[in-house]
This record gives sequence, structure tokens and C-alpha cells, in this order.
Amino acid sequence: MKLSVIGTGKMGGAIVKGLLDNHILAANNITGADASADAQRAFLALAADGQLGWANSAADAMTDADVALISVKPQNMDEVLPQLAGADSDTLFISIAAGITLARLSAALGEHRPMFRVMPNTPLMVGEGVTACAGNRHVTAAHHEILQKIFGVTGQVFTVSEPQLDAVTALSGSGPAFMACVADALAGAAVAEGLPPELALPMTLQTMRGSATLLQQSGMTPGELITQVSSKGGTTVAGLSVLKNSDLAKVLAQTIHAAANRSRELAKA
Ligand SMILES: NC(=O)c1ccc[n+]([C@@H]2O[C@H](COP(=O)([O-])OP(=O)(O)OC[C@H]3O[C@@H](n4cnc5c(N)ncnc54)[C@H](OP(=O)(O)O)[C@@H]3O)[C@@H](O)[C@H]2O)c1
Repeated sequence: MKLSVIGTGKMGGAIVKGLLDNHILAANNITGADASADAQRAFLALAADGQLGWANSAADAMTDADVALISVKPQNMDEVLPQLAGADSDTLFISIAAGITLARLSAALGEHRPMFRVMPNTPLMVGEGVTACAGNRHVTAAHHEILQKIFGVTGQVFTVSEPQLDAVTALSGSGPAFMACVADALAGAAVAEGLPPELALPMTLQTMRGSATLLQQSGMTPGELITQVSSKGGTTVAGLSVLKNSDLAKVLAQTIHAAANRSRELAKA
């Protein structure tokens, strides 16, 4: 499989790194194209000298591409998409650009092409990503396997319908920032209770990670984990009595709602 990556910045570079580190694709099957010299240098440094391919333009990167990963910013799509329209008719297009709809991709690249609109998140840089994908009517099971091959090494892959991508963008796309806010607030509260900052943040992060892993591996529901940790008259119950009487659930709902609405607006723009 020959993969061309249009836009080898943070996300494009991280995806290629995952493919190389996990021996999913050999470097000589991957070609990059990017407007930035820094991005070019960082991309080519992902493998030993001369192993990764480089194209001087997005159009040149389409030669022989079985799969084209479009990972430029949404504002650069108008400039990039016309350059990709000359690709072979069976080239699979995968766009990770936020808010760029399948309809817009089809209009620029051709209605007949198999394509995925994908929303990854930044934890894919450490192999813990969430990637949600919505395909058009031309994608087959074989195309889904290719997508799984590319994004499965950097985390979990979920198939959704295109309208669901707005909720996905709010939950897992923007989610790392929301989780960071929660981590910051919890660690700050622990510092106020006497813990030094150099202990509070690592302990907060490991508690978040451990709780998530426990939920994933045990199959417990969040409610069951709450019950497991709570004992009558104990510390968890004391804390939960504050949390449950607070606006936390409402604030989180409003947070996700605002982010999902913004995603809907951007897709219309
Ligand atoms: N970061 C996230 O959390 C996240 C999450 C989900 C999805 N995404 C999506 O991922 C995409 C990439 O984001 P990123 O954070 O990786 O951006 P990035 O680091 O800025 O990478 C994009 C690269 O594309 C280059 N580029 C611009 N115009 C180009 C052109 N005409 N031809 C070839 N390359 C061009 C940019 O060069 P210049 O710097 O010179 O413009 C830059 O090096 C975005 O569409 C974003 O919506 C990001």
C-alpha cells in the first residue's frame, strides 16, 4: 500500500510515526508533501535518510497513491483539494480536517471516490487516541480495514455516521482540553489541601488514567465504580455529596453542547 500524506505537521507526522514505529508500513511506501520546510524536515527525520518519500506539491504526491491522507488545516483545504483531483479513481481519501464535510470533499475530488471523514485526537501521539470515522457510500469493508490499519496503532477506531461527528468532535476531539481542565482543578484542590504541586499533578493524572483503565478492563459501569469506592460515612461519600449536589453534570453538558454546536457551525461555513 502506497500512502501519501498531504500536510505532515503535528497530526500527519504523528500518524506516520505510529505507522513506522509499529512496522505497519515501510518508509519507502510513504510520501509526504507540506508547504512548510520545518514540517518537511521533521517528517523526513522520522526514518533513516532517504527512506521516506517527498513530493514537491500535493499534486505530485498523488502519483501512485493508494491512500491519500489529507492532514492540512481546514483553512488550507480550498488550496489543497483541487491539487488532489487528478489521483487515480480508486485512491482512498482520508481527511482529518475538522468541519470539512464528505459533500465538500466529493464536490472537489469527484462523487465517485471512496473517502472517509475522520476525527482523531491528539492522544494518538502517545498511542492512546480516539479516532472516529464516517465513510461515504463508496467505502467497502476493505477500505475500513485500511483505516483500521492506519489508525488502530495509535488508539481505538470507532465508526460513526457523519452527523455524529459533531458530538465526537466535542467529546474526543476537544476532550483532551476538557480533561486537562479537570486535571488542573483537581490537582489545584489537592495543593490547597497541603500536597506539593510536584506530587499533586502526577497523582491526579495517574488517578484519571487508572480509573479509566479500570472501567475499560473490568466492564464496570461508572455507577458501579462509584459504589465500589464508596463506604458509608467514608471520605468518598463526603466528597460525592458535594459533587452530586453541584452543577457539574450541567456544566459538562453545556461544555459538550457548545463544542458540538461550534463544530456544526464550522461545517456550514
Ligand atoms: N490538533 C488536533 O487536536 C486535531 C484533532 C483532530 C483533527 N485535527 C485536524 O488535523 C489537521 C492538521 O492539524 P495539525 O494540528 O496537524 O496542523 P499543522 O501542525 O499546522 O499541520 C498542517 C501542515 O499543513 C501544511 N500546509 C498548509 N498548506 C499546505 C498546502 N497547500 N500543501 C501542503 N501542506 C500544507 C502546513 O504548513 P504551514 O504551517 O506552512 O501552513 C502544516 O505544516 C487539521 O485539519 C485539524 O482540523 C487536529
